[in-house]
Amino acid sequence: MAQPAPSSFILPPSSFFQTMAVLPIVKYGDPVLRDATRPVTEIDVPLQKLIDDMVDTMYAAPGVGLAANQVGVSKRLAVIDLSVGKRPGGLHVFVNPEMLEAEGEITEEEGCLSIPDFVEVVTRPERVKVRYTDRNGEQREIRGEGLMARALCHEIDHLNGTLFVDHLRGFKKERIMKKIQKLVKSGMWG
Ligand code: NI
Repeated sequence: MAQPAPSSFILPPSSFFQTMAVLPIVKYGDPVLRDATRPVTEIDVPLQKLIDDMVDTMYAAPGVGLAANQVGVSKRLAVIDLSVGKRPGGLHVFVNPEMLEAEGEITEEEGCLSIPDFVEVVTRPERVKVRYTDRNGEQREIRGEGLMARALCHEIDHLNGTLFVDHLRGFKKERIMKKIQKLVKSGMWG
């Protein structure tokens, strides 16, 4: 998920990036964003590397969440850090996340790194409970409220092939889809 407010993110010195692997983010129009992802069956060394690369990619964007299919890997894996790397313990890695509970409703602006520069208001649950496996293979549950609930819904949607624009209706949807299709056709999103 894109950062909700205009970014105050300050780029660290360039030496910081030397060990980073920032992957290209797949844009709207690529079929990998529409396929349901496959469950992760083994947390092995290549998966740990993918997780590290996804975290680097999310921080570099900058964004608060990223799903594996957004870097072209159709696996049920997502990362979220509402602090974009600023707060220790802010990073969460979700292997095979499943929504257990969702309640309430809240309508806020939302964006997506795969649909850059577009934000629209989307209604989401106010509180959710998600079960997942962490990167050490431990089964966990997390309760999320507000922005965390929104990010969890947004990333789990990605893993099911759903994008935030799918939640829009009527004129709002027509307007944004027309602009997006124009960009896709022009090849500007590669
Ligand atoms: Ni997104």
